[in-house]
Amino acid sequence: MSTQQKSFSSSLGAIMAAVGSAVGLGNIWRFPYTCGKYGGGAFLLVYICFVFLIGSVLMMSEFVIGRRAQHTPIKAFQTLCPRHKAWGLLGLLGVITSFFILAQYLVLSGWTTGYVSHSITGQLAALGTSSAPISEHFAQFSTHPVQPVIYLVVFSALVLCVILGGVQKGIENVSKVLMPVLALLILVLCVRSLTLPGAMKGVEYLFSPDFSKLTGEGILAALGQALFSLSVGMGVMLVYGSYIPVNENIFKTAMWITTCDTLIAILSGLAIFPAVFSCGLDPAGGPGLVFCVLPNVFNTMGTAGIVFSVLFFLLLTVAALTSAISLLEVLTATFAEHTRTRRAFGAILLSLLVTALGVLFSMSLGTLSHIKITGLTLFDFIDRVNSIYLPPICALGTVIFLGWMMPDADVRDEFSNHGTLSVPVYGLFRFIARYIAPLALLVVFISGILM
Ligand code: PFF
Repeated sequence: MSTQQKSFSSSLGAIMAAVGSAVGLGNIWRFPYTCGKYGGGAFLLVYICFVFLIGSVLMMSEFVIGRRAQHTPIKAFQTLCPRHKAWGLLGLLGVITSFFILAQYLVLSGWTTGYVSHSITGQLAALGTSSAPISEHFAQFSTHPVQPVIYLVVFSALVLCVILGGVQKGIENVSKVLMPVLALLILVLCVRSLTLPGAMKGVEYLFSPDFSKLTGEGILAALGQALFSLSVGMGVMLVYGSYIPVNENIFKTAMWITTCDTLIAILSGLAIFPAVFSCGLDPAGGPGLVFCVLPNVFNTMGTAGIVFSVLFFLLLTVAALTSAISLLEVLTATFAEHTRTRRAFGAILLSLLVTALGVLFSMSLGTLSHIKITGLTLFDFIDRVNSIYLPPICALGTVIFLGWMMPDADVRDEFSNHGTLSVPVYGLFRFIARYIAPLALLVVFISGILM
């Protein structure tokens, strides 16, 4: 087994970088409206079970595979199972998934970056407090042939700069600064939102359990959201696992990341819904919530609203940035390992490719909306592929690999830092990885296709 020199410098660095990957648009934008849609507290309960029972096990599995192999996904699977090199294809699928998710993620991140600028210049504030002009502004901006593309490129360039800085000086240092900033921003917004008149209605919407809304579809959405939110099933945590120092406790690290990610998702709900209800607005789902409803909320707050608007979209952009960094890192590290070219060369090349694809997806919402695949625009098509097909397959393959292909002694050895740690949860971890997680993922995958 070769030893990779690249590694995070400390346990804090590893946790911050992985939390940076996990906390993203999925927490701040997707979690709150999914939670509200499927029964508030009822959904939250199921979500928390999935996150801790299945999501965290997947994360630990990726950490074990990555740290044990000290390779990027394709070679990692091949190294740990030399008799069946075809497992490398699973790694390849993970890398391809990262590529497509990043391209789509860039489009959404471009919008959030654009809205930071629209908040600062007062463009959003000028739209007033009636819904129509605000929705119209978003529709015009997101379908414009040039504007969202410019912000997408700016955001992508920021991601590239961090990756060019390297694992410690780039990813780790940036995450160590941006994650506390993000926590502070979200706390400020929560306090503001919860102290508005009538805020309790929003808290109720988020937390009071309505089991009648928790349908089969809601349960599947909870598992899908858990995987997406923890960034598992696409090789990201596998690559970050290969950077985790040898003396770090994999179980504890994964638990920290899972807990932080879940807390941020809940705090995001508390920052958004009380404000929405306080203004008597409709808690719409999808991009509408963040881009069409929230500007309306900020505009009712006068000058202070401009400040909160800037802070909120900055929060979203910071969260998206550290997630996008982790996705580009998977691509860059894999490319460097397989081509033996300089890291910077691969990073620039891949960044250009994924940005070009992102631009295409962005334009498919406007100028190129006539191009359809199976009746869907390119953006909707990739959204479907990225949520229903690729991540569940990769996640399923990963737990099957860990649970059934890797010798128990190897997994236990890595999990317990070569027997130096006592890890009483190991038996439970192994049991979930072998039986429960594959079954749950199979159900998600099959129902996703059938729905
Ligand atoms: N976890 C990120 C979010 O919640 O927005 C999204 C993400 C990042 C998914 C990295 C997958 C990934 F590999």
